[in-house]
Amino acid sequence: MFNKVIVIEISTLCNLSCPFCAHDKRLPIPRHTIPAEDLRTFTEIVGQYATATGEAILVSWLGGEPFLQRDLLPLTEALHAQYPLSFSATTNGTQLHNPEIRAHIRRCYAELTFSMDGFPEFHDLMRGKTGLFEDVKTHVQRLAREAPDLKLRINTVLMRDNFDAFPALCLEFARWGVQEITFNQLGGRDRPEFYPEHRLTVEQVQRLSEMAQQIQEAIRDLGTHLVFSPSYLKRISATARGEKLPILDCAPGRFYMFVNALGQIAPCTFTLDEYGKPLASIQSLADFEQLPFTFHREKMRQQAPACLDCPNTNVHGKFS
Ligand SMILES: C[S@@+](CC[C@H](N)C(=O)[O-])C[C@H]1O[C@@H](n2cnc3c(N)ncnc32)[C@H](O)[C@@H]1O
Repeated sequence: MFNKVIVIEISTLCNLSCPFCAHDKRLPIPRHTIPAEDLRTFTEIVGQYATATGEAILVSWLGGEPFLQRDLLPLTEALHAQYPLSFSATTNGTQLHNPEIRAHIRRCYAELTFSMDGFPEFHDLMRGKTGLFEDVKTHVQRLAREAPDLKLRINTVLMRDNFDAFPALCLEFARWGVQEITFNQLGGRDRPEFYPEHRLTVEQVQRLSEMAQQIQEAIRDLGTHLVFSPSYLKRISATARGEKLPILDCAPGRFYMFVNALGQIAPCTFTLDEYGKPLASIQSLADFEQLPFTFHREKMRQQAPACLDCPNTNVHGKFS
């Protein structure tokens, strides 16, 4: 549906304590936020690009928790008023009790993804916040009623501990009125101390394809789609088996780009060190249009190690 998706991790600040996540608030790490001026300049250039080309561009805010960044609201409002851009965000839902934020989402957003990893006992424990499951349920149901044009999605991190609950969980989410459910397998890069005990087992992954099809059928009549593709399941299966899945040419930067909170832009979050460019170096439409060519040249010159076992879920058809 979109010609380009640009995911922008605006800040690494978060208010929750998920033991699998790099941004867990308990971690004693320096936190970063993209300087407001750099973010404004860059997103305006993206807006000019959308205007000039007529391409459908999705700007997707990520964090940390994006809605903790209150400057994001006026920026998104201004971009939405001036340019033909679509907006989405991935959120833990903790800020949606604020009516201003909900009204802003209704005005400006095309999509909103809530992260939900289980029923109350598991979800609230994983995220370190009692009552969060019920709060998110309230927000999702309200947005489903009040904003019928907003695509509501729930993303679940599948791990050993919540795998068996996933079919019942999808049925629950479908009853809330979400259009899509997506899933990630638990990744190990961010929290190597959590990963070995909680990653999906080979046996679980063997059941995943059949389970996913059964879930799709079970929730179809409720108007909800579980999104996955054969190539995405192949990626998850290869990880569980310890097999590498190289991608020779992902057309870096043509369909998907990632900006991190340090203000580096790259084809994905896994290639920032090798192909990343400072956001501040993108000062014109021409600079932005050059990015896919620059990334391609650099990949041809020296491939990033991550490409030899590509973990980018977009490349493997997470949303296909
Ligand atoms: C880093 S969070 C940031 C956005 C927001 N704070 C939230 O909770 O949705 C973005 C997504 O990455 C997922 N995530 C975090 N750590 C992960 C891991 N180790 N493996 C797979 N997905 C992960 C989260 O569950 C969430 O859906």
